[in-house]
Amino acid sequence: MPIDELELRRVMGHFATGVTVVTTVTPTGELSGLTANAVASVSLRPPLVLVCVDKTAESHPHIAQSKVFTINILSDLQETVSRRFAGKGPDKFVGISYRLGANGAPILDGVIAYLECVLKAAYEGGDHTIYVGEVTQAETFSGKPLLFYRGGYRQIGD
Ligand SMILES: Cc1cc2nc3c(=O)[nH]c(=O)nc-3n(C[C@H](O)[C@H](O)[C@H](O)COP(=O)(O)O)c2cc1C
Repeated sequence: MPIDELELRRVMGHFATGVTVVTTVTPTGELSGLTANAVASVSLRPPLVLVCVDKTAESHPHIAQSKVFTINILSDLQETVSRRFAGKGPDKFVGISYRLGANGAPILDGVIAYLECVLKAAYEGGDHTIYVGEVTQAETFSGKPLLFYRGGYRQIGD
């Protein structure tokens, strides 16, 4: 019998992760983004990464439509940014500074790294879609990562 949903969430909460905001653009040119920690490196040759996006997320169709996304890796100073993009609504970018990357998706200011991607595949993953992107450009900056562990935000050393 499969594990209970809440128990799976509790157990996987012991797997400490970084926190990202995955950004893209809508077909009408509006900016879109969601907080995501179901992010992983997949392959070096070719350079592939993945993000698992809930099928009910507003951002879900936007990635499939634009065929581009950018993974913004948040710093420990960006918990409020994470909370903003974990919410809903059209105003997520209000007051957020960013620039548009070569793929057209926003790169948030203050991140410790970003990876610009072109969508290569979308796989069924239960109530999520596994979006696999080829990394076309990436960069790192100074700063420490924001972490997520056992349902709460943490910093290195906590
Ligand atoms: C730390 C954290 C990690 C999250 N990771 C994911 C994730 O990997 N995939 C996902 O679909 N939602 C994830 N979420 C939930 C989304 O951010 C949330 O559902 C958001 O409202 C989706 O926005 P949208 O509906 O505007 O696309 C996470 C939330 C938090 C706080």
